[in-house]
Amino acid sequence: MKAGIVGIGRYLPEKILTNADLEKMVDTSDEWIRTRTGIEERRIAGDDIDTSDMGYEAAKKAIEDAGISPEDIDLILVATVTPDQPFPSVACMLQERLGAKKAAAMDVSAACAGFMYGIVTGKQFIESGVYKHVLVVGVEKLSKVTNWEDRNTAVLFGDGAGAVILGQVSENRGILSFELGADGTGAKHLYQDEYIIMNGREVFKFAVRQMGESCINVLEKAGLTKEDVDFLIPHQANIRIMEASRQRLELPVEKMSKTVHKYGNTSAASIPISIVEELEAGKIKDDDLIVMVGFGGGLTWGAIAIRWGK
Ligand code: UT7
Repeated sequence: MKAGIVGIGRYLPEKILTNADLEKMVDTSDEWIRTRTGIEERRIAGDDIDTSDMGYEAAKKAIEDAGISPEDIDLILVATVTPDQPFPSVACMLQERLGAKKAAAMDVSAACAGFMYGIVTGKQFIESGVYKHVLVVGVEKLSKVTNWEDRNTAVLFGDGAGAVILGQVSENRGILSFELGADGTGAKHLYQDEYIIMNGREVFKFAVRQMGESCINVLEKAGLTKEDVDFLIPHQANIRIMEASRQRLELPVEKMSKTVHKYGNTSAASIPISIVEELEAGKIKDDDLIVMVGFGGGLTWGAIAIRWGK
């Protein structure tokens, strides 16, 4: 039995914060932000929109796209480090709001790699035959833990949500291989005290090395090579980090997802948001081999190789 993605959805708050807006808030420039990160603008959720609200909107769309009813969902996994509150989990809040009465529910905390951790966890339940449908949501309201006076971090992050339904797909499609990893010795480089604290240079070095390595590892595990890859969806943290993974796979520019310029770094939401955008743009087709790869605080990382389609 193979697990794959059978439904998708995303939600982005309407409010746009541009680099020009940030120039008025901290000592920075549009030029610095663009050249160092690739970010041009990001979305910010208002006070009336919390993490669960964004997750709910994305999940509703994914359920509709999969053509199932909320009661068909067996498990809800929400990847987030910015839950509405420590508990109950965002997953339980969604379970109630969606009316997913049969579903077990929990949050997954693996920072920007959280969506990869969620997908790989959900896959186990589908492929063991225990569950039929797993809802995996990646959602963050990073604006509430961003120090808007710290130029090192304020320019990087954004809010948003993406969701997928995992289900059984045909034998030659679905998730072919995965890698998950963690290195707690690097916890000091990226964490939340009251606000996000980051040693950008250290995280940058780790990300460039680990993203490339994980891409190669999942291909090897699936018995494939770089030449087999049709499309790369990296975590959208910084265009320079993404470019390093693309070059490691020797892919042309048009074969890598890029949404970071519009949404900034939305942590666990960045990969599922990108999946939806690329599908809508017609860049992902059935039977394409797609590599998705994320990294984040923890430190954590995760990658999958997936043959697209139901
Ligand atoms: O999802 C995981 C989350 N984290 C990441 O992905 C972050 C990974 N790291 C990065 O993306 C990059 O390290 C940054 C974009 C954060 C920084 O880029 P960099 O090329 O590594 O810059 P840097 O840290 O080497 O800093 C260069 C200079 C510093 O000034 P000095 O010390 O050389 O005088 C910073 O103070 O740029 C300064 N700087 C800024 N200048 C203007 C830092 N932030 C800004 C800013 N505007 N917003």
